[in-house]
Amino acid sequence: METVLSGIRSTGNLHLGNYFGALKNYVKMQHENRCFFFIADYHSLTTHPDPALLHPNVHNVLAEYLAAGIDPEVATVYIQSDLPQVAELYLLLNMHAYTGELERTASFKEKVRKQTENVNAGLLTYPVLMASDILIHRAAKVPVGKDQEQHLEMTRKFARRFNNFYGVEYFPESEPYNFGNELVKIPGLDGSGKMGKSEGNGILLIDEDDVIRKKVMKAVTDSGPTAPNSPVTDGVRNIFTIMQAVSTPDTLQYFKEKYASCEIRYGDLKKQLAEDIIRVVAPIRSRIRDIRNNKEYLRKVTCQGAERAAESADKTMAEVREIMGIRRF
Ligand code: TYM
Repeated sequence: METVLSGIRSTGNLHLGNYFGALKNYVKMQHENRCFFFIADYHSLTTHPDPALLHPNVHNVLAEYLAAGIDPEVATVYIQSDLPQVAELYLLLNMHAYTGELERTASFKEKVRKQTENVNAGLLTYPVLMASDILIHRAAKVPVGKDQEQHLEMTRKFARRFNNFYGVEYFPESEPYNFGNELVKIPGLDGSGKMGKSEGNGILLIDEDDVIRKKVMKAVTDSGPTAPNSPVTDGVRNIFTIMQAVSTPDTLQYFKEKYASCEIRYGDLKKQLAEDIIRVVAPIRSRIRDIRNNKEYLRKVTCQGAERAAESADKTMAEVREIMGIRRF
């Protein structure tokens, strides 16, 4: 039985990218492994959210998380800030993280470009906090989307460095994980990049059927293929990529053939895509409504999760302190 961990920031509502990149894999793994799933509210502080919205955001994401199929009876579900041991490990690992490598991280460079007025030290050390989340339970597998690949690489680097420095075989080499082998990147509907919380280019798990249809019908395409096997533009490629995640292989094959023979009608393609997305989202959406209103249940899940996570984290911290030579009189 392997230890599996994953997390999600408590910013905004979950979208199809979160679901297919990470959540769906957790759900499949939870019964066979020792699983930890948490909501990264410390990480969300790097963008200075309004304190009045922090808890409601955690509440929403937690409900969406559970509605997507995570079973808190078999997996340990907790809130990051309920586990202050993570903050201690973060402090200790920061002593072995170098500013040069942190400055070169793609996610940091992007924030420096986009968030010029708030380039705080939390952003710089974001990968160290993430490594602490993973290493606090010594997790071997981390189901995540493609965008987290570099952070996982850094986690392994920090773990190896710790092991080498202290002459121990303590932290594992945590691997990003996806059942389809390749890590997934679900693109946005705007013809560029990935589906994201802040980009406003995605289908949310709480979107109503009509909203989903409207969003898909507005997705960027082009004027259509002009010759057999003509190159695919970004917007159309994105639609096929989303289709690969939500539709049957036969459906995907059908539309790919229509494209190759220049007979494709984007209207039909989008209608099919919207219905296939609805098939995935609708049952999750109805569970979100039930779970979100059940505050007593959410309180029970997070209290129980915090307790179980603390047991594992306390053990790691006692061992890490011992390895580093931090002792009581
Ligand atoms: P976050 O909250 O941005 O995303 C949560 C998970 O969803 C995946 N994801 C996607 N996968 C495919 N296509 C997309 N368009 C897409 N958008 C998001 C992400 O890869 C991620 O797996 N730093 C993390 C949260 C975190 C974490 C951790 C994750 C903190 N500590 C420890 C794993 C382990 C983040 O911001 O993910």
